[in-house]
Amino acid sequence: MTDDPTPAIEVAGLAYTYPDGHQALCGVDLCVPRGQRVALLGPNGCGKTTLALHLNGIHRGDQGRVAIGDLEVTNASLAEIRRRVGVVFQDPDDQLFMPSVREDVAFGPANLGLSGAELAARVDEALAAVDAADVADRAPHHLSDGERQRVALATVLAMRPEVLVLDEPTSGLDPAGRRALITVLARQPVAQVVVTQSCWPTASCWRPTASSCPTASIPPASDAAAAGLTRPAGLTRPTPAGRVGAGRVGASVGGAGPSHGRGL
Ligand SMILES: Nc1ncnc2c1ncn2[C@@H]1O[C@H](COP(=O)(O)OP(=O)(O)O)[C@@H](O)[C@H]1O
Ligand SMILES: [Mg+2]
Repeated sequence: MTDDPTPAIEVAGLAYTYPDGHQALCGVDLCVPRGQRVALLGPNGCGKTTLALHLNGIHRGDQGRVAIGDLEVTNASLAEIRRRVGVVFQDPDDQLFMPSVREDVAFGPANLGLSGAELAARVDEALAAVDAADVADRAPHHLSDGERQRVALATVLAMRPEVLVLDEPTSGLDPAGRRALITVLARQPVAQVVVTQSCWPTASCWRPTASSCPTASIPPASDAAAAGLTRPAGLTRPTPAGRVGAGRVGASVGGAGPSHGRGL
């Protein structure tokens, strides 16, 4: 955490319509302070993935703005935005395409210009961060689902992102794989947005500590519907100040400190 008051992520009034005319986002606001972890909860089809893909400029809104730190997502800033924001896709196979884990993790930093010992050190660092150093020389398609998911995260961490966005990261995992991933995520010091439709953020190892205390919410088609989703997940309702606007999907976070309720 730094003293910089600029949020890690700020989304305001975001609207997005797919090319076929389907409007997936409408008036979404989201503010994630630096170093905080936020769960973005919602049922299938409510726009979670669409929103996540706006955070590194894969999708670009019809209206509204998205900023990462002090940098707004624009055509001119796209390369830097993608360095700052690491997105882990729902299916790790979308992220792993090289013959070995080591080459997959090296791919991003090599494209940033790293080579030789510096590149090797960056790869080792990223694999160690996800407890996957032992699979460095294996083929990604031979790994278990849990190992593949952590290696996909390593490909992103190798870019040293300021923000992590993970889309349904535990959806294909058994309980042990889920615990391993949650353990790895919990020790990453950067802001995190985890898109999920399940209640795993309430796992005991993910409760807020003095240094991280998010709350998460679903934006409501109605308050009753929102409560129906957040209550079983043990998550606090959004504060009025952080309230999502007219959007179909969104999230808000409380301020820093453990008094803001339960979180991831
Ligand atoms: N490529 C696409 N073209 C048209 N509509 C899409 C496309 N991708 C998603 N949608 C629609 O946008 C809405 C939000 O989808 P999505 O963001 O994937 O939801 P979630 O991740 O919450 O399940 C859904 O109604 C979905 O059918
Ligand atoms: Mg989705």
